[in-house]
Amino acid sequence: MSDFLLSLGPFQGITDAPFRNVFKQHFGGIDKFYTPFFTGIHKENHAKNLQVEEIDPQCNDVETLTPQILSTDAEEILRFAKQCKQLGYKEINLNMGCPFPRVANKKRGCGMLPYPDKVAAMFESIFEQIDDVKFSVKCRLGYFSPDEIEAVIPIFNQFPLSELIIHPRIGKQLYKGEADVERFKALIPSINAQLVYNGDIVSVDSFGRICETVQPVNSFMLGRGILANPFLAEQIMDTHGVSLQGELVRTHRMRPQTHDKTDRLHAYVLDLYEDRLRHAGGSPKVLGRMKELWSYLMYSFDEPQDVWRKIKKINALKEYEDAVEEVFKDIAIVI
Ligand SMILES: Cc1cc2nc3c(=O)[nH]c(=O)nc-3n(C[C@H](O)[C@H](O)[C@H](O)COP(=O)(O)O)c2cc1C
Repeated sequence: MSDFLLSLGPFQGITDAPFRNVFKQHFGGIDKFYTPFFTGIHKENHAKNLQVEEIDPQCNDVETLTPQILSTDAEEILRFAKQCKQLGYKEINLNMGCPFPRVANKKRGCGMLPYPDKVAAMFESIFEQIDDVKFSVKCRLGYFSPDEIEAVIPIFNQFPLSELIIHPRIGKQLYKGEADVERFKALIPSINAQLVYNGDIVSVDSFGRICETVQPVNSFMLGRGILANPFLAEQIMDTHGVSLQGELVRTHRMRPQTHDKTDRLHAYVLDLYEDRLRHAGGSPKVLGRMKELWSYLMYSFDEPQDVWRKIKKINALKEYEDAVEEVFKDIAIVI
């Protein structure tokens, strides 16, 4: 396998700035990050638009972070692009994949894919005016049917997208069923943009299978798999980051001090919690985000349902702290 790129997909409510920063301190292997989507970029309320921490260059690395917007309004997308550029970002990403009915039913997110004329008009306005910021797209195969993307690809091809990330599910599936890797593969020859594969990479083995199927695509976005197993990008590189000649084609950005996985996972979870608490001024509202992460992280442990039973019921900070200690004391990790 030749060189490849790994990115971490955006998750609204999970992969915010504290998450991304703590993740980077603890784990290697990820080259690129995306913010969860922004909406409502109004002219009047500049400060609110920027949601300082989330996109502030003091708290984020503008070289490896791509801010994402969910919108169908070219003017709004251009405003976002301009603000991101002013902050030093090199690229923005348009979310054309969000499947939630309250979004998609309004022809936003993947709900725009059945309407190629609307996509064409929006892209024309964007590319007429976008100035010195790369523009990438993340989408699905369609909203109602996986054929929808076929009418949209010729439009994508007319514009210099910096990247096209395809998650080969349809919106109606939400996150259920399987990502259709074969459909993704069939689309490859028809797409001009640099392609990124996203969907169901949950292990070194599934990465290997998908990688082989979709070659020559060499850019991969990890999703729930890396939320469940934060070592995943490192493990992929340990196995696949070496060429057939035995040369290291990829190196970890960061080599951990301790090699004990349980200790590393424990330290990550504690740091993330403390960082979130600091950002939230000690408010128990951080528990929602920590629980959301645990709904994936539980699969790092031998008895995921036992882990979840301990975590899901907690309502207070001390209860959470005790539950986490109990999990690490009582339940072995399996990753
Ligand atoms: C709770 C949740 C929130 C998400 N938020 C976003 C988002 O803000 N922007 C986006 O492009 N994708 C979002 N996604 C989609 C993921 O980034 C990813 O594309 C999806 O999980 C498929 O990859 P996977 O099969 O590897 O998990 C979200 C997914 C979930 C489950």
